[in-house]
Amino acid sequence: MTTVAPTPTVAGEAITLSGVSKSYVTAKGRLPVLEDIDLDIRAGEFVSLVGPSGCGKSTLLKIIAGLVGYDEGTVTVGDRAPREGRDDIGFMLQQSVLMPWLNVSKNVELPFTIARRRGPQVGERVNSLLDLVGLSHAASMNPWELSGGMQQRVALARALALDPGVMLMDEPFSALDEFKREHLNIEVAQMADDLGKTTILVTHSVTEAVLMSDRIIALGVNPGRIVGDITVDIERPRRAHMVGSDRFQQISNDVRAALAEGMKGGQP
Ligand SMILES: Nc1ncnc2c1ncn2[C@@H]1O[C@H](COP(=O)(O)OP(=O)(O)OP(=O)(O)O)[C@@H](O)[C@H]1O
Ligand SMILES: [Mg+2]
Repeated sequence: MTTVAPTPTVAGEAITLSGVSKSYVTAKGRLPVLEDIDLDIRAGEFVSLVGPSGCGKSTLLKIIAGLVGYDEGTVTVGDRAPREGRDDIGFMLQQSVLMPWLNVSKNVELPFTIARRRGPQVGERVNSLLDLVGLSHAASMNPWELSGGMQQRVALARALALDPGVMLMDEPFSALDEFKREHLNIEVAQMADDLGKTTILVTHSVTEAVLMSDRIIALGVNPGRIVGDITVDIERPRRAHMVGSDRFQQISNDVRAALAEGMKGGQP
């Protein structure tokens, strides 16, 4: 085992997709999912992906994380192609996957264990991550003793453990009630901003996307393709009351219009 060095906050990395197409091979034959995706995300940018169920949002995140391959095009994260196990990419999966036999602290420590890193700095880093997500008091609790919001905070701390330049979050707040969700939206947007991470959030909530993002990418179905690229020119830090502003509503309407267009399908 190696001893871990104190982990400084790594600034975000740029993400580029150029002409990316992806199909899955299924029992019924080839299923085209994503077609000709061109997307440039700046280092430190917060981008949301919205689109109907099945349009390929999770697939796109998995491609960027190196968890699934693609048929055509090129993808770079930082200056390299994606690869499974890169510790500069943090991923919060669509289903929260806390290990039920590990307490909160050990769940957050898991990425270090997998990377075979240990030493007193690991314990310090775990404590500072728990502090960051407001769970210092819950370090020794078990996953089943936590509320949904607390579980998502643990998953967030774990995804940040190795201080990735890129954070990928697949519908992380969908199981939460509206109040908790909005609270976490603002907290996580602030955290991503403070830490300078490049962040891609998948969400079905237009409000959440506008509240958190610098930019919203709307995807359409049949095939999954980009149908809207909308800049959110609302000041930071974001606050809950901003949801009521005219600009917020205008941007939300632009996103909804792009989604409606995307539902029509690009092929006869
Ligand atoms: N491993 C797989 N093998 C075969 N088909 C798959 C696989 N994963 C996803 N698909 C199919 O690819 C399409 C896109 O799936 P994906 O999970 O990327 O959609 P999504 O936009 O994330 O949907 P949701 O909003 O419901 O999470 C769907 O039709 C799905 O059935
Ligand atoms: Mg999905």
